[in-house]
Amino acid sequence: MSGTPSVTPVTVLGLGAMGSALSTAFLDGGHPVTVWNRTPAKAGPLTARGAVAAADPREAVRAADLVVLCVLDYAAAYDTLGAVGDALNGRALVHLTNGTPAQAREFAQWATQRGAHYVDGGIMSTPPMIGDSGSLVLYSGDRTGFDAHRSTLERLGAARWLGSDPGAAALHDIALLSGMYGLFAGHLHAAALIASEGGSVTEFTTELLIPFLERMMVPMKYSSREIDSGEFADQEASIAMQATAFVNIIESTAAQGVDPALLIPMRDLYHRAAAEGRDPSELLAKKAGR
Ligand SMILES: NC(=O)c1ccc[n+]([C@@H]2O[C@H](COP(=O)([O-])OP(=O)(O)OC[C@H]3O[C@@H](n4cnc5c(N)ncnc54)[C@H](OP(=O)(O)O)[C@@H]3O)[C@@H](O)[C@H]2O)c1
Repeated sequence: MSGTPSVTPVTVLGLGAMGSALSTAFLDGGHPVTVWNRTPAKAGPLTARGAVAAADPREAVRAADLVVLCVLDYAAAYDTLGAVGDALNGRALVHLTNGTPAQAREFAQWATQRGAHYVDGGIMSTPPMIGDSGSLVLYSGDRTGFDAHRSTLERLGAARWLGSDPGAAALHDIALLSGMYGLFAGHLHAAALIASEGGSVTEFTTELLIPFLERMMVPMKYSSREIDSGEFADQEASIAMQATAFVNIIESTAAQGVDPALLIPMRDLYHRAAAEGRDPSELLAKKAGR
């Protein structure tokens, strides 16, 4: 593979909400774009903007050195590329379908056996965000493939390289989503408490919850360092105190007629930690190699 000019041709396989947004961002950047989708009609809006619709995945793959694949799941990914024969040989395959680290590693092996420079990715943006300054895509796998096409991939958003393990992007993707859903769970629970008394959830969230959570990012950084070092300092807020606070949280929640299901596992974790005299993160986070 040679260095990439700024208008390097790109092939996009899969034109769902995300694949269409990826194709649009490449077209916006002036790249010649070839597209393919199982349901051909979805190529219409993109061909109207100058993209070329390939008749089948093999023809699409052969149209560009950079092939971006973004379909529903790994079964769809194998379905899409299963019949392309030797067409992947020497090309960069950037796979942005969401999956597990194990799926990514297995697919990397499959693609590498066919001569592809395999780069796995995790899209941390919604389709309307693609190409915006706030958009982020995680990548890992074949460094040669990534370096050759980095500037083109940056059309989609900031490109964060996570190393040569093809499973690393998927692991970080899932870790980020876990953090996000944990935050959403906390918000849903808090909102239900405020709503149970007829309060304004918007006012509560804007004026109290978001500023409070922003301040709580500081202890999150301390706790991350402790997990990394394996040394857990005496807590300013002891685990026993926090375990007791959880009793109040669950009791109040039930009394308000709100389902406490989202926080019960957290209460149980704190109670186990208090009983064992350990930090809750010691019970959950086991560092590899320790
Ligand atoms: N949308 C988001 O907000 C978002 C955000 C981050 C990551 N992602 C990830 O991006 C990927 C695509 O998501 P999406 O939102 O584009 O989904 P989508 O709108 O449901 O589109 C799914 C795509 O997969 C194709 N497909 C499904 N089964 C197939 C098969 N057996 N063979 C070939 N193609 C098949 C569909 O083709 P047809 O058109 O023929 O059905 C379509 O192109 C997913 O892995 C998703 O997790 C999405």
